Amino acid sequence: MVSQKKIASLFICFLLLLLLPLSFSKPTRNLDGISARAPTVQQIRSRHHGTREVIVDNGIIRVSFSNPQGLITGIKYKGIDNVLHPHLRDRGYWDITWQGTNIRQGGLDRIEGTNFRIITQTQEQVEISFSRTWEDGHIPLNVDKRYIIRRNTSGIYMYGIFERLPEWPELDMGLIRIAFKLNPERFHYMAVADNRQREMPTEDDRDIKRGHAKALGYKEAVQLTHPHNSMFKNQVDDKYQYTCEIKDNKVHGWISTKSRVGFWIISPSGEYRSGGPIKQELTSHVGPTAITTFISGHYVGADMEAHYRPGEAWKKVLGPVFIYLNSDSTSNNKPQDLLWEDAKQQSEKEVKAWPYDFVASSDYLSRRERGSVTGRLLVNDRFLTPGKSAYVGLAPPGEAGSWQTNTKGYQFWTKTNETGYFTIENVRPGTYNLYGWVPGFIGDFRYQNLVNVAAGSVISLGRVVYKPPRNGPTLWEIGVPDRTAREYFIPEPYKDTMNPLYLNHTDKFRQYGLWQRYTELYPTHDLVYTVGVSNYSQDWFYAQVTRKTGDLTYVPTIWQIVFHLPYVNSRGSYTLQVALASAAWANLQVRINNQNSWPFFSTGTIGKDNAIARHGIHGMYRLYTIDVPGRLLRTGTNTIYLRQPKAQGPFEGLMYDYIRLEEPSRA
Ligand SMILES: *[C@@H]1O[C@H](CO)[C@@H](O)[C@H](O)[C@H]1NC(C)=O
Ligand SMILES: *[C@@H]1O[C@H](CO)[C@@H](O)[C@H](O)[C@H]1NC(C)=O
Ligand SMILES: *[C@@H]1O[C@H](CO)[C@@H](O)[C@H](O)[C@H]1NC(C)=O
Ligand SMILES: *[C@@H]1O[C@H](CO)[C@@H](O)[C@H](O)[C@H]1NC(C)=O
Repeated sequence: MVSQKKIASLFICFLLLLLLPLSFSKPTRNLDGISARAPTVQQIRSRHHGTREVIVDNGIIRVSFSNPQGLITGIKYKGIDNVLHPHLRDRGYWDITWQGTNIRQGGLDRIEGTNFRIITQTQEQVEISFSRTWEDGHIPLNVDKRYIIRRNTSGIYMYGIFERLPEWPELDMGLIRIAFKLNPERFHYMAVADNRQREMPTEDDRDIKRGHAKALGYKEAVQLTHPHNSMFKNQVDDKYQYTCEIKDNKVHGWISTKSRVGFWIISPSGEYRSGGPIKQELTSHVGPTAITTFISGHYVGADMEAHYRPGEAWKKVLGPVFIYLNSDSTSNNKPQDLLWEDAKQQSEKEVKAWPYDFVASSDYLSRRERGSVTGRLLVNDRFLTPGKSAYVGLAPPGEAGSWQTNTKGYQFWTKTNETGYFTIENVRPGTYNLYGWVPGFIGDFRYQNLVNVAAGSVISLGRVVYKPPRNGPTLWEIGVPDRTAREYFIPEPYKDTMNPLYLNHTDKFRQYGLWQRYTELYPTHDLVYTVGVSNYSQDWFYAQVTRKTGDLTYVPTIWQIVFHLPYVNSRGSYTLQVALASAAWANLQVRINNQNSWPFFSTGTIGKDNAIARHGIHGMYRLYTIDVPGRLLRTGTNTIYLRQPKAQGPFEGLMYDYIRLEEPSRA
């Protein structure tokens, strides 16, 4: 006999079950939390092909890995058998591009593991490893790829320990990244930032051979002439339109509006990346692809420090990054908003939890194995002011600004507050230089002494003073010193090759073909900027590009800055400060008052950052402090000629950050 009490309690349970979905119907993965259990690891051998797999399952997600290669072959989530791409080899993988000294050695390597190990398995988490030690023919590195799946967590932490021994052959390492390709049937909506998200075309839409798209002037950009969805017709697709500076690259990914599921790459720290906080990297793009990059030359080019000499040892922990999945169980008709907001919240949680306390490798250092550095940055540009909202960071010892090209070490960056104070936390023990720059001032700061950080140390540097280059009072200036060409004239895109995302957008510069507008605006005569009359936001084109004169012919351009001097100190030394935001196969020649003279200053060929072709508004920063003898100037009207003589094609050129003429010091 069933007692009445039992029936009543069963009834209550039943009611509760009915209610549960309601009470958890707001954010998503809490629903999954109910079934949270200890993660399990299973090794299986497929009956069909004899291939082996490792499967980790925590009741929320179930992740399969090829064994011992360690490629992610499946992610089961929310009733979706696999959120990844149907092509087995294009799902979730690391890759690396390299070049040995022997020209036949190198290429793209998926760093497939040869050895599988379970590192930890507890009630709380599973950490597994797929490693490979160097064998001839492969890139000379030992690699240990690690994956962590935690209880009650809707995602996978991934990191890699990369090591090279000093006796190994020299090599160049171009790129290290993790890539995911998602199921194209499901994922159509991509989000990179609050104001950078949209419905995306498909990989098939980009197919030139099948006549779906037309090639454009740069290989990654295509015009979608026959897309599956006519809303994309004639739009340009280019993955470089979705790049992001490292400081802003915390979360990006894809949403399946049909399945109401999001897939995100969360990067809680910039310490393991290369090139500092404003280096730009790819994020997500048509595929559907989501990428996180640890080392690359993007927007810097061959200047990036990629070469490893004989005798040079290297070891670096890349990651962890967090692959996060979320779902929306509401019935709102736009799941995008909720999923994106939730992904951002999750990324904030990951940032707060950094450095993680659950990572097994002793090469990844916990909070108490790290130190911190504090101080106050002041700027001395004729008088002393707080270095507010400045970037300060610790990076491997080198010249001022060398962090821009550094790939080998860790970097730890922060921003100063309104009064110049800064705290750099969670720094790995080591010897660093303290670097920085201050928006509004030119040049690169480097603190005079090396900074030695030890575990648990709190180093207070007190006041540190940056004295930006300056030899005398300002006569005139063009632009603002912010390391970009953002403030200059950025033209409207062509109607038939635009990306509607960037219309009426703060990032107007992310459009294809803007460089071509120069030839239209200045068909016969180059840009002339008259100090005191011209306005840089209208009259200074964002890039000094070549002028197109025929189908395949281009000519160099010469820009003029015209200015008036009521008086010249002909025995004094004037200073021209030229800060460049980008350079690509360019040479800047400076002449004064005589267009035909030998240039009195020339940079030589500089830069391969490709920021013009890749719609960046900056690449690598360079400052030239140029001495201008007073005898070259005259009372009255003067002209500075800025000539860029290299003109093989459309993409050689420069972006200026800021230009200033200083009169001789009165001191
Ligand atoms: C699971 O995680 C969610 C969100 O982080 C949390 O609210 C919940 O309490 C967790 N549940 C368990 C059983 O730990
Ligand atoms: C800046 O940081 C310092 C040191 O932490 C603090 O005393 C000061 O109040 C902060 N100033 C502002 C404007 O936040
Ligand atoms: C451009 O954006 C601004 C600010 O978001 C908005 O107020 C304005 O209506 C937009 N204009 C057009 C033409 O879309
Ligand atoms: C320069 O042009 C911009 C944009 O049109 C305008 O907002 C600004 O006021 C102008 N500056 C001056 C000094 O006229």
